[in-house]
Amino acid sequence: MTNLQPAPNLPKSPPSPDFWMPKSASVTSEHVDWIWDFMVWMSVVSAIMILGAMIYFCFKYQAKSRSANEYAEKSTDHNTTLEIVWSVIPLFVVIALFVWGFQGFVELRTPPANSFEIRATGQKWKWLFEYPNGYTDDTLHVPVDRPVRIVINSTDVLHSLFIPNFRVKMDAVPGRYTDLWFKATEPGDYPIFCTEYCGTSHSDMLSRVIVHPAGGYEAWMDKASNTDAVPLVELGKMMADKKGCLVCHTTDGTPKIGPSWKGLFGKTESTSAGSIPVDENYLRESITDPQAKVVNGFPPSMPVTTFRKDRELDAVIAYIKSLK
Ligand code: CUA
Repeated sequence: MTNLQPAPNLPKSPPSPDFWMPKSASVTSEHVDWIWDFMVWMSVVSAIMILGAMIYFCFKYQAKSRSANEYAEKSTDHNTTLEIVWSVIPLFVVIALFVWGFQGFVELRTPPANSFEIRATGQKWKWLFEYPNGYTDDTLHVPVDRPVRIVINSTDVLHSLFIPNFRVKMDAVPGRYTDLWFKATEPGDYPIFCTEYCGTSHSDMLSRVIVHPAGGYEAWMDKASNTDAVPLVELGKMMADKKGCLVCHTTDGTPKIGPSWKGLFGKTESTSAGSIPVDENYLRESITDPQAKVVNGFPPSMPVTTFRKDRELDAVIAYIKSLK
């Protein structure tokens, strides 16, 4: 119902015109793509030449008799010039690949000084992006034609942030910051994957990056970050989705990684700290200090969830209450 998160009217990532790679949408791609093409085609040409020569020689020099075979075995089979040629040429190719590859690597690892910074946090099993004004979202929104540096962290285990269309990927490591950068060249909607096996729902740890056309990012942010007018329950539903609550909690009564929210409010739960009535204070504590009173039968695996404003936390509680 809410129109706070308007699905931007942008083309979905179009089918790749390239046989090998998803459509390129960042300046960072060029360092990756041509070296990849070069290596693939060099391997194809080498394979054809080597296999072709082998098959040809099998027929041309096939031994017709035992004595011919023995004679061939005793003959000279060494040619120094040929050996030098086939060692030195590949050596230069490999050196050139290293030099080009290293230049690209340095470029890919060096975010421009004026980069727009967004923080990305991996947690089981959701990406959270925090913008300079403190607003967080589970979708990455970026302006087009502007270098963006993503500072990556994890709250639990190793994850890895991968944006195929930009050819960038970086591990999210608990207790340490890593980063990547890109400059998107085309407005659109591109997939984000987690590419480090991180447990049960690793394969569901998906997100998207929305590249806004000029001016579109600011307009989106104005709208998205202003939640004051949204009714509490509706805001709570939005927050539950964005903050990743619904990855582990269902709203239909089925227990998942954590207890379902349906009918939770008003219940008495048996927890690690004894029997507890589920009221506003218990819900608040469970969100801000999840390990305090864990419901028996569930793993103590919930991460601490923080909110920009108290009203957002109130909203989640209101949403849980509404699920009778
Ligand atoms: Cu997170 Cu795989």
